[in-house]
Amino acid sequence: MSTTELGVGLISVGWMGKLHSRSYDRVNYHYPELGLRPRLVIAADVLAEQRDFARDALGYAQATEDWRDVVAHPDVQAISITAPNYLHREIASAVAAAGKHFWIEKPVGRTTDDAAAVAAAADKAGVRTAVGFNYRHAPSVTHARDLIASGAIGRITHVRGRFLNDYAAEPGGVLSWRFQRDRAGLGVLGDLMTHAVDLLQYLLGPVTEVSALTSIVIPERPLPGDGPSTHFAVVEGGPTGPVENEDYAAGLLRFGDGPVGTVEASRVTVGPRCQIGFEIFGTDGSVAWNFERMNELEVCLGRTGPDHGYRTVLAGPEHGDYRRFQPGPAISMSYDDLKVVEAALFLRSVETGEQLAPGVADALAASHVVDTMARSAESGSWLKVPATVATGTPR
Ligand SMILES: NC(=O)c1ccc[n+]([C@@H]2O[C@H](COP(=O)([O-])OP(=O)(O)OC[C@H]3O[C@@H](n4cnc5c(N)ncnc54)[C@H](O)[C@@H]3O)[C@@H](O)[C@H]2O)c1
Repeated sequence: MSTTELGVGLISVGWMGKLHSRSYDRVNYHYPELGLRPRLVIAADVLAEQRDFARDALGYAQATEDWRDVVAHPDVQAISITAPNYLHREIASAVAAAGKHFWIEKPVGRTTDDAAAVAAAADKAGVRTAVGFNYRHAPSVTHARDLIASGAIGRITHVRGRFLNDYAAEPGGVLSWRFQRDRAGLGVLGDLMTHAVDLLQYLLGPVTEVSALTSIVIPERPLPGDGPSTHFAVVEGGPTGPVENEDYAAGLLRFGDGPVGTVEASRVTVGPRCQIGFEIFGTDGSVAWNFERMNELEVCLGRTGPDHGYRTVLAGPEHGDYRRFQPGPAISMSYDDLKVVEAALFLRSVETGEQLAPGVADALAASHVVDTMARSAESGSWLKVPATVATGTPR
């Protein structure tokens, strides 16, 4: 099949910028039917060593200090926005205004206002978008969604969602942009809870009402030195600054007149390391998934019988996009593979014009939920989640 080159730009060469770039490199291998072939044109970062990496290791033809050069580049038609949250709104609005498609990282800005502005800019410009809700793409999650939709576990009664992570459990972990209100917005609500909420909304539909609480567990952190400082950087001693947003959040949820449930997120757990997951209970069975064992789905079908209870279903070619990566079952897929699925959805949206999910409308939907949780935690009351615009077409 003939392919057309799609000039790609990258704004910010951090963890996610590097991963988006590797995904563009791999996507045509795993999805050979795509009519677009990404070409890495230009990357932007304020740090020289990141720009060098973009050129020398990732293969961008050019690198620049100013993200506006990426937006303005005549050979760029699609842009990955992997900058810190406080830059999302300004960059995405400029990218949309330039008529360029974009793949942006969650949580899309610091606030619901930011996410709404980005969604409106994309709508107005008629560009296609993708958002980094990568956990949706795990084949075991797709299988859970198919089981729920088929009625195999009956009427869904309740759910337990979570994202328990230890990236900030170390008190010497530096005060990166993630802990500052003006640069990150919300804390774990924006960073991790958005992932957990997106997953639950993908599986069960919109969250309509919430009651939540939040807490800060480590109130002071060391200031970072010069150079790139990811949230994994640790400094012992030296000056410290205040953590301005929540480390932990928990909520009670209603899904219309359907299921009810709970969801928690923490960036400071000691034990669970990267445990985004869910347990979903129905009248005739249940499903449970935990990213730390990404390729396993716990499934219980039926209410009785001598073998009643959970059994482990290993991911295989019949689940989601697994067959794009491995020919036989039980050969583990990885986090990076999920980003390749996301790249394929982005390119397919650009190629066909159909907005596939997750796009910025899905980010706005998740943002409404976490923002309502933040307000509920402040007021101590149940609050309704504002209704969201139509989201993209899920696979
Ligand atoms: N989907 C996921 O699972 C996932 C995982 C991690 C991060 N994220 C999201 O990805 C985004 C980036 O996070 P990260 O972990 O890659 O961050 P990071 O700290 O690793 O990288 C951020 C990069 O942005 C650069 N930068 C800062 N200011 C800039 C500017 N004005 N112009 C250009 N570049 C600039 C920094 O130099 C750095 O290289 C965030 O929105 C985050 O929430 C998503």
